[in-house]
Amino acid sequence: MKIFHHREDLAKEIGIFRKKGKSIGFVPTMGSLHKGHMSLIHLANEQCDVVVCSIFVNPTQFNDPLDYQLYPKHIDTDTALLQVANCDLLYLPDVNDVYPQGINKESYPINSIGSVLEGKYRPGHFDGVIEVVKRLFEIVDADRAYFGMKDYQQLAVIRWMVKHFKMNIEIIGGPIIRSDSGLALSSRNERLSQEELKSALKLSKSLFYVQDNYKEVDFNTLRKQLVSSLEEDENIQVEYFELANAIDLQPISNFQEAKSVGVFLAAQVGKVRLIDNVVLF
Ligand code: PAJ
Repeated sequence: MKIFHHREDLAKEIGIFRKKGKSIGFVPTMGSLHKGHMSLIHLANEQCDVVVCSIFVNPTQFNDPLDYQLYPKHIDTDTALLQVANCDLLYLPDVNDVYPQGINKESYPINSIGSVLEGKYRPGHFDGVIEVVKRLFEIVDADRAYFGMKDYQQLAVIRWMVKHFKMNIEIIGGPIIRSDSGLALSSRNERLSQEELKSALKLSKSLFYVQDNYKEVDFNTLRKQLVSSLEEDENIQVEYFELANAIDLQPISNFQEAKSVGVFLAAQVGKVRLIDNVVLF
């Protein structure tokens, strides 16, 4: 695996593969890699000749400065994992390489898809995600880019961005990878204490409960029960527990209102904010 710190060097290397007619798959990440990230690298390897991964903790998408500061960093283990997973090129830039004119972000007209769920609770977050992914796509001239359904709304926002800017890249979504006990893997999980980890397990359990019962019980009843039972745990504070159209993420109040429906959950567990979701159909 070749490692690049500068955009020009990476772009040149990708150009060489392109001239040879090789297809390029790209997996953008913020590092502290786990099996969720690695599943995307695996998917990219199955579908593309050359796999590029980036590790960059993007300052413009954090609305909580402490979250940015405390974001876990494990470059050595990440590099070793990518090597074993047959990643070909790793882009490891510093802030200046991604933001040569200084850190800035525009406001993008994401409208309805960006103003609900995460967009409502993390104002400006998706502008920061678009800002960085747009820049990364300009640096990494890829045929396909891979994003996880763990960040379901992010995937929808990226699809919107590609359409809006008429970008020539295919966006592939990969399934949520969970621990054996059901917890959605996340780089932030390592900031949970043992006790908070037990609390965090209740989040996915509540989503699975909806999955098992939504045909018999209406969503509002389920939501009330589940939110109050989650919040009986003093480590948990629910931000949202929403039913939404799984295509445009707009809130709905019952399962009959859309062709594809998901349940989206965000909660503070101790000092760590976690998100999870299930698509019901
Ligand atoms: P990060 O949180 O590092 O995630 C990188 C990619 O891995 C995202 O597409 C995310 O959805 C996916 N991922 C994370 N946990 C997963 C899991 N348990 N199962 C499946 N996929 C999972 O998302 C970001 O970084 C950033 O916002 C980024 C897109 C890199 C822009 O800065």
